Amino acid sequence: MAELAIIGGTGLTTLRNLEIDHREVVHTPYGEPSGPLTFGKIRGKEIIFLARHGYGHTIPPHKINYRANLWALKEAGASRVIAVGAVGGIHPDMSPGQLVFPDQIIDYTWSRYNTFHEEDLDHVVHIDFTRPYCEELRALLIKGAQSAGQDALETGTYGATQGPRLETAAEIDRLERDGCDMVGMTGMPEAALARELDLCYATCAVISNMAAGRGEDKILMEDLTGNLGVGMNRVRTLLEEIIPGL
Ligand code: HPA
Repeated sequence: MAELAIIGGTGLTTLRNLEIDHREVVHTPYGEPSGPLTFGKIRGKEIIFLARHGYGHTIPPHKINYRANLWALKEAGASRVIAVGAVGGIHPDMSPGQLVFPDQIIDYTWSRYNTFHEEDLDHVVHIDFTRPYCEELRALLIKGAQSAGQDALETGTYGATQGPRLETAAEIDRLERDGCDMVGMTGMPEAALARELDLCYATCAVISNMAAGRGEDKILMEDLTGNLGVGMNRVRTLLEEIIPGL
């Protein structure tokens, strides 16, 4: 059974280096995941892949059924999840195409289903979320990037915004004052739901653009997708590097 799942974000709806075995449509008590789960092998190791926005990239961040996605992966046997996602860079050391492995999150999202512990409870549940990512998996990602010779940032705070619009320059100033180094729309509630299911979850963020007011005057969709190509190829290399050792 595959122990590792990969959730692909914008720019990573398929994994070119994945030898696909089969796809499976999964129904969960929380509704339908973003698409069928893809089962296959990377360098001989079984993995499960799911495209967060759907295989045709049609589901916007605020409409993703995060609960169904994580539930389906857990049900399929995953115990570790590498979540790949595009972000805007806020920290001046960042540049488009670079990889970052965030170690903290600030959640600005609203009105998303953000817990499995909400109905038919025996007792109220408060998960520990002091360190929101699985440090063991983060360490593997960091080591993998080092051995692949990639210039990746090893820490950073991920500000999760609601979207689907991008932020104003003043909102990014506020995020920076709060301590955010990068901004994305899918980091939450995904990370918290993974923790509720006891999944070892870490994010591999790819900087697709500098955030509003930090680079070009206007952020164009073409810039987002263009820079992602380079970054996602780095992700593919990184996955090939670390998967055999998992
Ligand atoms: N803001 C929010 N989410 C994003 C961005 C951004 O600039 N780039 C990629 N995802």
